[in-house]
Amino acid sequence: MTPPRPPSRVIQWGTGAIGAEMITAILDHRADLDLVGVKVYSETKHGKDVGTLVGRSPIGVLATADTAEVIAMPADCVLYTPRTTDLAEVCRILASGKTVATTAFLFHPRRLPSPDRDHVLRAGTTAGQRSNWVGRRNGEPLMQIETLWTVGGEYPDHWPRPKDGWTLTIEGDPSMRTHFFSSASFTRPASIEEHVRSANVATAMQVLNAVPTVCDAAPGLATMAALPLVRSHTGFRNA
Ligand SMILES: NC(=O)c1ccc[n+]([C@@H]2O[C@H](COP(=O)([O-])OP(=O)(O)OC[C@H]3O[C@@H](n4cnc5c(N)ncnc54)[C@H](OP(=O)(O)O)[C@@H]3O)[C@@H](O)[C@H]2O)c1
Repeated sequence: MTPPRPPSRVIQWGTGAIGAEMITAILDHRADLDLVGVKVYSETKHGKDVGTLVGRSPIGVLATADTAEVIAMPADCVLYTPRTTDLAEVCRILASGKTVATTAFLFHPRRLPSPDRDHVLRAGTTAGQRSNWVGRRNGEPLMQIETLWTVGGEYPDHWPRPKDGWTLTIEGDPSMRTHFFSSASFTRPASIEEHVRSANVATAMQVLNAVPTVCDAAPGLATMAALPLVRSHTGFRNA
């Protein structure tokens, strides 16, 4: 029988919507992860016990706004979820010998080139985004993903009007279609804050659940395309 691996030492970098979900999940469910440090940006959080910051009992780990102090901490993995990302900073973390797991789009190898991103996000001009990605095999379209995201109540007349959520269509033999919609609950009334939080959980857990495999991966960039299937730790124990 394989002996149980010792807990991975993790540092949480940023305690916003995503970072706070990661911390509570680690404290509540992840005996295999040892939270050894937390980097914050707000001076009001500096020096506070991390457990207290997320509404749990004190755990004896103090949050710090001192970047150099966090980088100097021994750890296996940094969960990097600040609002704005800093390539040089991430390079310093990597150079200190730690793995980085992140929700930040900047670090996806095929991220948008900056001129496109600047165009899409020009301040004050964007109330929605319609994006389309096509994966090809031998030059022929094989997979296509389209997203229609809007802010506010307006919706362009010339855009399609699909059901809210995600519709997966497979054209084949047989052809299949399913509709997927995530929510805080389907059985009780939930506030908009709960719905937003449930979306944060979905984002945060994809990365948190990937930590063991990311730590085991070969040096380099590891994305969902290369990693084994990342599953719920609490549901499957990742056995
Ligand atoms: N929310 C989502 O559903 C979602 C989905 C996909 C990807 N992401 C990505 O995940 C990351 C975190 O998202 P989030 O929703 O957790 O964001 P958020 O709630 O806005 O996070 C705020 C975080 O940013 C930190 N912060 C404050 N000032 C900063 C500065 N000058 N530079 C850098 N960070 C600063 C805050 O520090 P304190 O710890 O001191 O408060 C806090 O940790 C982002 O890169 C985002 O693009 C988010």
